[in-house]
Amino acid sequence: MKKGVSFLVAVALMALASSLAAAFDPSPLQDTCVAIPEPENAVFVNGKFCKNPNLTVAEDFFFQGLNIPGNTANRVGSNVTTVNVDAIPGLNTLGISLVRIDYAPYGQNPPHTHPRATEILTVLEGTLLVGFVTSNPQNRLFSKVLNKGDVFVFPIGLIHFQFNIGHTNAVAIAGLNSQNPGVITIADAVFGSNPPINPDFLARAFQLDKKVVEYLQARF
Ligand SMILES: *[C@@H]1O[C@H](CO)[C@@H](O)[C@H](O)[C@H]1NC(C)=O
Ligand SMILES: *[C@@H]1O[C@H](CO)[C@@H](O)[C@H](O)[C@H]1NC(C)=O
Repeated sequence: MKKGVSFLVAVALMALASSLAAAFDPSPLQDTCVAIPEPENAVFVNGKFCKNPNLTVAEDFFFQGLNIPGNTANRVGSNVTTVNVDAIPGLNTLGISLVRIDYAPYGQNPPHTHPRATEILTVLEGTLLVGFVTSNPQNRLFSKVLNKGDVFVFPIGLIHFQFNIGHTNAVAIAGLNSQNPGVITIADAVFGSNPPINPDFLARAFQLDKKVVEYLQARF
């Protein structure tokens, strides 16, 4: 390859890499892009197809019922009500969504990450112990006890959690900078994958007895 050409290729690759590195939800290129279902022929786009703006109505930007608590009678004692693009089609391309989280006394939102969003959370009722852990090799825990009105941020991609340390119900509301932040719950992904990850491999990875791994795989 000639020097000039290889330089241009390198510049093009760098430009591509930097655009991938800045890959949050894309900026909207029109006022509204209300999501409509995928077409029958299984063509997908990054996001959702847009409704004809002439047919767009106020209901496309509306959701009702975030005042209603989620049912926390489950194995972790919490419930997340998600208001993302699937709940409000008008969120398509806007890079934002909302959740309500209910916690039973001593309930928890177990360690998880959002692959596509930073989260900003505020407590409406109760007392939460919250935290996130940074990347290797520091793996620093940033943690705080939050009361009503307190706000905490979980940076994009980092493992974080909330734990209701009060003996009453707790409620939080959080905003996330993606129309579809995604959730990876660590225990479910590692021990509950489908099909399961090889237990010998997990035993060494987590420095556990294989029996413990098989027990965990049965739980998740
Ligand atoms: C929307 O309405 C305008 C005005 O009636 C019309 O000119 C335009 O073609 C319509 N756009 C679409 C995509 O139907
Ligand atoms: C969360 O609450 C809703 C509404 O009560 C319920 O339908 C759903 O099954 C609950 N989810 C979990 C994981 O408990």
